[in-house]
Amino acid sequence: MLKPREKSSMDEREARLVQGDQQRSPVTQQRPPIVVVRNLTKTYRLGETTVPALRGVSLTVRAGEFVAIMGPSGSGKTTFMNVLGCLDRPSSGDYWLVGRKVSQMTPDELAEVRNRRIGFVFQSFHLLARATALQNVALPLMYAGLSRAEQERRARRALELVGLGSRLHHRPSQLSGGQQQRVAIARALVNNPALLLADEPTGNLDSRTSVEIMAILQTLNARGLTIVLVTHEADIAAYAHRRILFRDGQIVSDEPVTAVRSAHSELLQLHQISSDGYRALPAEGEQ
Ligand SMILES: Nc1ncnc2c1ncn2[C@@H]1O[C@H](COP(=O)(O)OP(=O)(O)O)[C@@H](O)[C@H]1O
Ligand SMILES: [Mg+2]
Repeated sequence: MLKPREKSSMDEREARLVQGDQQRSPVTQQRPPIVVVRNLTKTYRLGETTVPALRGVSLTVRAGEFVAIMGPSGSGKTTFMNVLGCLDRPSSGDYWLVGRKVSQMTPDELAEVRNRRIGFVFQSFHLLARATALQNVALPLMYAGLSRAEQERRARRALELVGLGSRLHHRPSQLSGGQQQRVAIARALVNNPALLLADEPTGNLDSRTSVEIMAILQTLNARGLTIVLVTHEADIAAYAHRRILFRDGQIVSDEPVTAVRSAHSELLQLHQISSDGYRALPAEGEQ
């Protein structure tokens, strides 16, 4: 039987129809979509029972956006992030990543996307315990066919970017929680991804350290990185520019953040410079 040819890229008109997109500012709306999902569903099967984790999610995230996803436990946030990260496939619906339809990618292309186009940050850091900060960050570069010296140079630069230039040879157990999360962020960035996905990145951190992590994410976003962050804390979502609320596997609201908090200003106000010399990186346009 002949199957209709599926389009592999999204046209602008179609993209504009997607939920929430009308609310973006005109400038943001002109930027290319990084993520376009349509009517995503995911149903887990556990023996006789089925769990509908996603029930028709449609969303566009454009280049340079900083999106916070909130919602009660069990509302489908992690399932959604796993689909966005190509770690899991939806049961139905479509997903275009930077204009490419994910369901049409070959296994090699999917591996490439997971390794190079998307950076992941998790609540529990997921670092290799026996590897140094530098080795942890260099890991995604091992598949990129770079010389050892170039791998090390890039890993060092990513660690410097998150304020850990003086902790290159420490192992995770020799670092604080906040420092470990900064290593994980450096690892997520080292391949220069199009999209950073962070699932509860401050969930294991105290509030001051959380602000430091959000300062780094805000700086990266100001430099153009597209970020989707999951958090259950309204305080943390307020550092993003757009807030999406999940409930029972669906988006129930999608709005701009009206008073965006500045993690840098808050850190400066507290006169907080941590003992390892980490300073809040100035955002673009700030001195
Ligand atoms: N691997 C799995 N197998 C079966 N059910 C799952 C699995 N992962 C998640 N679920 C269920 O899917 C729903 C959404 O879970 P999840 O995406 O983890 O929510 P959240 O991250 O918002 O807490 C929950 O009811 C959860 O129990
Ligand atoms: Mg979760």
